[in-house]
Amino acid sequence: MSTSAVRKAVIPVAGLGTRFLPVTKAMPKEMLPVVDKPAIQYVVEEAVSVGIDDILMITGRNKRALEDHFDRVPSLEATLEAKGDSKKLAAIQESNNLGDIHYVRQGDPKGLGHAVLCAERHVGNEPFAVLLGDDLIDERDELLSDMIRVQQATGGSVVALMEVPREQISAYGCADVTEVAGESYVQVHGLVEKPEPADAPSNLAIIGRYVLHPAVFEVLHHTEAGRGGEIQLTDALQTLARREGEGGGVYGVVFRGRRYDTGDKLSYLKAVVTLAVQRDEFGADLRSWLADFVANGAEAPSSHA
Ligand code: G1P
Repeated sequence: MSTSAVRKAVIPVAGLGTRFLPVTKAMPKEMLPVVDKPAIQYVVEEAVSVGIDDILMITGRNKRALEDHFDRVPSLEATLEAKGDSKKLAAIQESNNLGDIHYVRQGDPKGLGHAVLCAERHVGNEPFAVLLGDDLIDERDELLSDMIRVQQATGGSVVALMEVPREQISAYGCADVTEVAGESYVQVHGLVEKPEPADAPSNLAIIGRYVLHPAVFEVLHHTEAGRGGEIQLTDALQTLARREGEGGGVYGVVFRGRRYDTGDKLSYLKAVVTLAVQRDEFGADLRSWLADFVANGAEAPSSHA
């Protein structure tokens, strides 16, 4: 039984991962390791940690490895059991005990809005979360649970926002907001997908977490292709932001915690290092190696240390 007011999460994973080529030629980008777990596992764990127990992945071609990762591997389990290696056994079993995971294929990737629309039948008429795999939220920071509370309180849809340097806003959906007296969330009046910095209504970027009213489906059915020729979730939310009554209204939770972007090669490498130095097993060693590495002018040490 779900312990959350929002029971279902949708995770779009049909993207081609072209920013990571060539590594994503035959492997989904969601399977890229972040230290020792694929990036997607952090996202599923985040949903499960707030009590969501029904997860729908919107997949596409080339994504078999994702389904395999969240499935059992009886032969490997038996081998580890025979060896008495309970630590590794627990590590591989962790990913197949993460709630009910369902898959639906997007077929033709026509944008994030289209991916969300593919979840319509599975989600039905209840609020649901959408989590994008490029953003990892530190497990010590609460975001999704706050967003669920705001959705329940307002009855509308909720986006996660984060302040970014203005010159970076063109990589994100951008929100025009006002404070709501006495509340920790903001009201969203307008949303624009990837504006030029000069045209951006603010420096508040949508990061990849949403808690949506199911009214978004009907709006998505009528949302025309927008930026990049794709059906944009941002455009559907712009319509909902202006709507009054049942299912209308969009609100924002401004996140000030730790977010790790894994959306391109450089930010991915930074995310891996940031999370790796926090690990008990080797964090301290890695930290001192990094300090030496930098002190050494970022030259590889000549020894085999
Ligand atoms: C998508 C959304 C964008 C949002 C971003 C967050 O863009 O369309 O509004 O700011 O995710 O990561 P994408 O990064 O998929 O191009």
